[in-house]
Amino acid sequence: MPATRQPYGVGLAYRPEVHHDIMQFRQEFDVMEVATVDYLERYWRLVQDPDTRYLRELIATFAVVAHGINMSIGSVEPHDDAYLHATRRFLDEYGIDEFSEHLAFHRIDGCDTRSFIAMPFEAESLNWLERKYNAARAILGRPFALENVSYLFVPAGCSLDEADFITEMTRRTDCSILLDATNVFNNAHNHGYDPITYIRKLPGDRINQLHIAGGKFVNGIWLDSHSATVMEPVWDLVHAALDHTNAQSIFLERDTGYHPFEQGIMSDIRKARDIFFKHRPATPPTAAATTPAPTAADEAPSRAINALDPAVANLRSFQRAIMRQITDVNFRQQVAADSNLVLKDYPMTPDWKSRWEGCNQDRLKRMAIKWPETIKVQKDLEEDLKRVEWRAWAAQNSW
Ligand SMILES: [Fe+2]
Repeated sequence: MPATRQPYGVGLAYRPEVHHDIMQFRQEFDVMEVATVDYLERYWRLVQDPDTRYLRELIATFAVVAHGINMSIGSVEPHDDAYLHATRRFLDEYGIDEFSEHLAFHRIDGCDTRSFIAMPFEAESLNWLERKYNAARAILGRPFALENVSYLFVPAGCSLDEADFITEMTRRTDCSILLDATNVFNNAHNHGYDPITYIRKLPGDRINQLHIAGGKFVNGIWLDSHSATVMEPVWDLVHAALDHTNAQSIFLERDTGYHPFEQGIMSDIRKARDIFFKHRPATPPTAAATTPAPTAADEAPSRAINALDPAVANLRSFQRAIMRQITDVNFRQQVAADSNLVLKDYPMTPDWKSRWEGCNQDRLKRMAIKWPETIKVQKDLEEDLKRVEWRAWAAQNSW
């Protein structure tokens, strides 16, 4: 059941909860972005679309791309190859060519914050990301897009700025960029830079998709909550992004407050389509800059990566120390009292130690406060999964 149509226009980051609403307004959507987690994690698949009926209807109706959230490409540890192979199978089975993930890390040493953490904008990070990207690409069998994320903190005094960091990533690999305009807005406000200048510095010819979403303003900072209509200033960034880039599609992300559907989601979709078709022709140009389809050359064997390589030792220590601060309150208090204690478990050169010290401690603490809730949600899901599977088993075996 291949998805043959070229992704072009405006659509939604698909959630099965609003399948029927989407179908009711199908004439006003051009494209859909499926979250692979909805089909690769047993819990989500069982509770939302167990026989993939919705997915198959979606693919028969729209051009579809896929979006992942679990890769943690920046983590200085091996890839979860099972996740990558499952993603590959999913893309192949449903004939979806375009895939995207996030340019960030959120998992290391068995802990997963489920919130994205920025990579330090340094050459050592680029060296590691290049290897991780190529290793993932070999398993996925295609180039894929990386998305700029909203981040609460980033090390102070990095040698590159974020736009140069992303540009260098596109120079070293064949990745494309999924530009999240709301994340640009959030970061520009939270970290004090000009969003338009940032967008214009990016390699426009490598940007093939845009995200937009509405967020929450809490204690002076914008959070990427996907919970509201798109903020007014984000629309200016969409104009700027369409002017500067090759973006062929825009996806609205919304994770809560779906209804009333027409007043909320459809209002943003209509606005996005108005803007998109002011900047783009009604039909896609034949040589649209979408991710190329996989070729035989993409079937290279998985390239080995070594997380213990001394060349990435600083980045590894940095990430492990950050994760420990988020997940271990005693460690956080100890290193707050004497920052040199960090070097005992996580050796770093003096410049990397000062980058670690330069992370905004108040914002890091926000993530730490959320950590017990993150664990609880995961445990609740596991308990829920047992109940869902039991019900499915009982339904199959009832007489
Ligand atoms: Fe996004």
